[in-house]
Amino acid sequence: MPKFKAPRGTYDVLPDTASHWSRVETAFAEISELYGYGEIRTPMFEETDLFVRSSGETSEVVNKQMYTFLDKGERSMTLKPEGTAPVLRAVLEGGLLNQQGQVVRVWYKTPIFRYERPQKGRCRQAHQVGMELIGSSSPNADAEIIEMTVRFYQALGIKQLGVLVNSIGRAQARRAYADAILNHMASWLKDQDQEGRARAEKNPLRLLDSKDPSIQDLLSGAPVVTDYLEPESREHYDAVLKRLNEADIEFEEAPRIVRGLDYYTDTVFEVEGRMLGAQSALCGGGRYDKLIQELGGSPTPAVGAAMGIERALIAMEAEDLLPDVDRLDVFVVALGDQAIQIGNRIVDRLRKEGVSCQQDIEGKGMKNQMKQAGRSSARWTLILGEDEIAAESVTIKNMDTGDQQTVPQADLVSRLKS
Ligand code: HAM
Repeated sequence: MPKFKAPRGTYDVLPDTASHWSRVETAFAEISELYGYGEIRTPMFEETDLFVRSSGETSEVVNKQMYTFLDKGERSMTLKPEGTAPVLRAVLEGGLLNQQGQVVRVWYKTPIFRYERPQKGRCRQAHQVGMELIGSSSPNADAEIIEMTVRFYQALGIKQLGVLVNSIGRAQARRAYADAILNHMASWLKDQDQEGRARAEKNPLRLLDSKDPSIQDLLSGAPVVTDYLEPESREHYDAVLKRLNEADIEFEEAPRIVRGLDYYTDTVFEVEGRMLGAQSALCGGGRYDKLIQELGGSPTPAVGAAMGIERALIAMEAEDLLPDVDRLDVFVVALGDQAIQIGNRIVDRLRKEGVSCQQDIEGKGMKNQMKQAGRSSARWTLILGEDEIAAESVTIKNMDTGDQQTVPQADLVSRLKS
């Protein structure tokens, strides 16, 4: 019995699925490159205060989910629960925004750590790919980010997508809207204990994000945030929607989406997988025009998004898009010293030609080597016995059909490639 297990909510990626992960990561790297984004990597942990300031004290992430620890120097550190704040910290620290009017486009792939109740598609170490477009307040920037996320899922072949877009306006609109929500929920609030009431009053918009069905029920007739937008926000939002229409991106307006992190202003959006159950959010993002200033930079508008890799894989599985495991091309079976030497040379030559190969490394007999070839699930087995050595030939066995043919060693590469 193994003595240890992976911590609850964490998972190993074993060789049979690792290629699925690379496929998702590569698809995102390629899309990012097509849009001219540069890769950025930041540490796994940061000063705790970075996340408290950015995600917000009332957010669930900061309240309940952070992996926070004191290091040996008694400094409070936190494993990153999301990628945006660390990226902004790095962009500011690296001086990437030093030139006025500069627009910075970066993408990343990163694990994130959230102490959540694990279930399918919800992990304590999850993985995201994401991008941030920093330095533009244009609605074209919001539309570019939304378009990129859609292109990414399209590149993976995922079809059943819902793109949900909303605007939560700026400070004044949110205050007015928060009051309207508190009004709407007044009788519910009266029944809450002091702590629950204080929490709701501190950030009423959190209620919209609540997973409690009774709260969701009460909220069904509540006012929507878009009725409270300032004129600039309304104009910005309309321009984003227009741009999305022009780019032929299918979307829905979803006035209940407010997002779980506190840093958003104006545009927010989510992409959901229509075939997924409870954890249907594939992607979340939006504009955060006040955050860079909050982190000590000069006022700089920005917008971004992050996509969960686990959830992308679940969506791909549901749409039957995950390819079989990568197969080995060739297993070489060689009997006797001379055959082994020739086999070694053939393996070397094939690998240089991009043909994947394995051979026996234990000095086993013919029967055992044929068994190894079967277990390796190679497409072809190459057999080098006495007859083949004498004739400078090699026997190729197609492992799917069982067909065999003997060809000159000199023709091997061209035969395999054809
Ligand atoms: P988020 O909505 O918290 O946003 O996460 C984005 C995506 O990461 C989710 O839609 C989901 O697919 C995935 N995800 C999050 N938590 C988990 C988890 N515990 N298990 C599995 N998947 C998870 C952000 O993180 C923002 N930083 C996005 C952003 C970038 N906004 C602006 N720029």
